[in-house]
Order: sequence, then C-alpha cells, then structure tokens
Amino acid sequence: MSKILILFFISVSLCFKVFDRVREDCPNFHEKIKPINAELTQPKLAISAEDEEELLTRVNIVFHCAATVRFDEPLKHALQLNAMGTQRLLELARQMQKLEAFIHISTAYANCVRKCIDEIIYPPPAEPKKLFDLVEWLDESIIQDITPKLLGDWPNTYTYTKALSEYLIQQEKGNLNIAIIRPSIVGASWHEPFPGWIDSFNGTSGIFVAAGKGILRTVIANNEAVADMIPVDVVINLTLAAGWYTAVHRPKNMLVYNCTTGGINPFFWGEMEQYVMSTFKRNPLEQAFRTPNAHLTSNYLINQYWITVSHKAPAILYDLYMRLTGRKPRMMKVINRLHKSMMLLQYFSTQSWDWSSDNMNMLMGQLNTEDRKLYNFDVRQLHWSEYIESYCLGAKKYLLNEDMSGIPAAKQHLRKLRNIRYAFNTTLLVIIWRIFIARSQMARNIWYFVVSLCYKFLSYFRASSTLRH
Ligand SMILES: *[C@@H]1O[C@H](CO)[C@@H](O)[C@H](O)[C@H]1NC(C)=O
Ligand SMILES: *[C@@H]1O[C@H](CO)[C@@H](O)[C@H](O)[C@H]1NC(C)=O
Ligand SMILES: *[C@@H]1O[C@H](CO)[C@@H](O)[C@H](O)[C@H]1NC(C)=O
Repeated sequence: MSKILILFFISVSLCFKVFDRVREDCPNFHEKIKPINAELTQPKLAISAEDEEELLTRVNIVFHCAATVRFDEPLKHALQLNAMGTQRLLELARQMQKLEAFIHISTAYANCVRKCIDEIIYPPPAEPKKLFDLVEWLDESIIQDITPKLLGDWPNTYTYTKALSEYLIQQEKGNLNIAIIRPSIVGASWHEPFPGWIDSFNGTSGIFVAAGKGILRTVIANNEAVADMIPVDVVINLTLAAGWYTAVHRPKNMLVYNCTTGGINPFFWGEMEQYVMSTFKRNPLEQAFRTPNAHLTSNYLINQYWITVSHKAPAILYDLYMRLTGRKPRMMKVINRLHKSMMLLQYFSTQSWDWSSDNMNMLMGQLNTEDRKLYNFDVRQLHWSEYIESYCLGAKKYLLNEDMSGIPAAKQHLRKLRNIRYAFNTTLLVIIWRIFIARSQMARNIWYFVVSLCYKFLSYFRASSTLRH
C-alpha cells in the first residue's frame, strides 16, 4: 500500500497523557508525525513556503478540526477562526495535487434553530462574505453591540459561525471530495486511549467537577430533555471511517454525518444528574467545598432561589471566613464563572433535537467486519451509567490529578463537612429561636419540651447502641 499523508488541522494543546498508550504500543510514533505551524486568522494561514510546498504536493486527506469552541467568543474572532479559517484552508486544499478527501468537523448544533435536523446543509443565517466585510471595517465595540441582532435565533457565536462555515464549504468546495461530521456534545473517551480520558474543563467536564466538589448545586435543565452526548473516541473513529469512505467511494454529493446518540441510544439530563451524583458519592473528590448535592430544575424562579441560598450565601460566608483568617477570598469568583457557563449551557439542557443519522448507519454498513471493530462507532453498545461513571472518575484522575488511593481521606473530609453542616444548622436554628420566637411563655414551654424529647431520644439511642455492642 502506498504511503498516505494526512493533514490534521487541529488547535488544541497536545496533552501528554493521551499518548501514553501509543507510546507503549509504538514507541517511534512521533517519527510519523510532522507538525506544521499555522495560524487560522492569517492570510494563507501563515504557513511557511517550504511547508506549503510539501502540503501541496503530498497531502492525501485533510481533517479540519481547528476551531474555537468557546460559546461566547466575540463574533469577530469566532468568524475569523471558524469561518474565514475554513475558507482559507479550503483554498489551500483546492491546490493540493494529491488530495483525496477533505473532512470538516462541524457540530450537531450548527442548525440548532431547527428541531429536526437532517443530514443536509441548510441556508445560512447570513451571507458569510457580507459578514466578513462588515467585521473588517466596523469597530469591535460596535460589533459587540449588534452581535445579538446578528445572531438572531442562534444562541451563541459558536453555533452561528459553524452554520456559516458549513454553508461556505458547500459554496466553495469546487470539485473537492468533502464530508462534514456533526458531533453533538463531545464527552470523555469511552475506550481509547483509556476509559474516561479527558483533558479540558470545557463543556460538561467542568460542570461535573463543580458538582463533585459540592460547589454547583442547582442547574437549569429539563429532566426529560435528551442530553445528546457523544464520546470523543466515537467521533474520531467515525471521522476516520468517513475519511476512508469519502476518499475511496467518492460519493457524488457531499455527505453530512450526524454523529449523535439521541436517536439511537437516548440519554436524559435527569439520568445524568443521577449518575454523576451517585459516582461522586461513592468516589468523592478531594477537599470538596460541600457534600455533592446538585439538582436539576426547569423552573427559573426555583433555580434563582437555590442560586441565592446554595451558591451565593455559602460563597459569601466562605469568603468572609477567608478574609477573617487573612487569606484571599475566591469562592464568589468561582461561583460567578460557574453561573456564566451555566447560562451558556441552558439553551442546550432545556431542549431536545432530532438528528437523522442515515449516513452514519450507511457508513457502518460499508465497513467490513474487521474495520467495524477497529473503527467502532456503534453507540448502541454504549452503557450510559458506566460511561458517566468512568467520565467522572476520568475527570478526577486526569483533570484534577487525584489518585484513587485518596478516596478514604476524601470520604473522611465529607464526614467532617457533614458535621460542620449539622453544627451550623443547629446554631442557626437556636439563634433564630432566641431572637424571634422565644419571647413568649408558650414558646418557652415548647422549647423545653423539644429539648427534653431530644435528650430522651439521645439517651435511649445511646442505651440501645451500648446494648448492641
Ligand atoms: C476551553 O475554554 C477556554 C475559554 O473558556 C479556552 O480558552 C480554551 O482554549 C478551551 N480549551 C479547549 C481545549 O478547547
Ligand atoms: C437521528 O435522528 C433520527 C430521527 O430524525 C433517528 O431516527 C436516528 O436514529 C438518529 N440518529 C442518531 C445517531 O442520533
Ligand atoms: C475506536 O477505535 C480504536 C482503534 O481501533 C479502538 O481501540 C476503540 O475502542 C474505538 N472506540 C470505540 C469507542 O469503540
């Protein structure tokens, strides 16, 4: 077989742990990789003449995975990276002499203004070229001001620019052989390189960690809405298989693959809450702020109530304590950041979408038995409770660098927190009682009654437990 040169256009930092396994299996793997410097926002991607020459004469497949995934990226920057960057890469690809396929990674939410999303390119929210011109000359602060108007029904600049880039590709593909992959919410890996591997707090991982640490206690979400999550290695396997199919079979029309789980193996936000909480109760994170206890609600007012009582009040108290002990207060800052990311998530956690996945099924049918195993992306086999458990443990191990041997100490810490909470609640109750209620004789009588009852109960309890011993 002739050598195939692949260009992966990626923008994430390369985390070392992810390569631990390949380092073992294939120690000289780095000899097969040639990194090239590029910058999406620059003309001709700022690739050196020498590198460009090599790309133009030798690349066979391009996988375009470079983008900003920040939901709240300023529009100008998001356009430059996600839309103009794609346009520049297409331009380069059109000149590649040996190119067989160009695979573009989009998102299942690029067309989230629709409820049923087919594997086709939809009309864009705006004419991309006009937008490019606009942001070229308009002052950045003005762009910020008019961004909500421009976005229209789109919830953020990320999905908006991803919709634009899909359309751009359709417009400018020339005779390139292109496929588009649309993954939904990408989560930790399912199998490869190891279960639960994750390298960033972005997306759901940061939320899991915040819930596990006991900081996050209320989330706006609809228990019955589909949480369309997809493991990162499924996306990668599907992407590779699509690369093969596009290059070898050269489908007449550009294929869009929806890479989602909701239609085949649905998973709901309510279940997610349950699995995340149960994992962190059995395997607590170290030095938790409070006992993990997060709840979903779809009611805005209830959420606001819990935000005040369970997020802001403890943060204020904790920061006060930090200040009194001469340290830097930080919890309110954490809470504010958390609220910001929850706001961005809300749109996705309160609605469901239907994606058609005929092309994904078609692709699975095209693979032979061996390849189907080697590039497995069959999410029907995904067991959600196991997956979420390994995701949470992965966040513990790979994001927080916590060792599993620290779990007994973490459990001990949770017991301490529980005792602090009991003591705190009791003190609060007594204070409220003394100040507001214990002024009348009647109240005093009740008070003594309750205290003596507690006393009796305690002595009974002690007696029975001594008997048992
Ligand atoms: C995560 O999000 C931050 C900003 O919110 C961004 O700077 C960073 O690049 C993102 N990381 C990854 C791996 O996407
Ligand atoms: C996509 O959506 C369709 C319904 O529109 C469903 O039949 C199919 O199974 C879904 N596939 C995936 C992978 O979500
Ligand atoms: C993806 O492919 C790799 C390599 O064959 C395999 O080890 C891994 O298990 C696959 N991923 C999934 C989710 O099945």
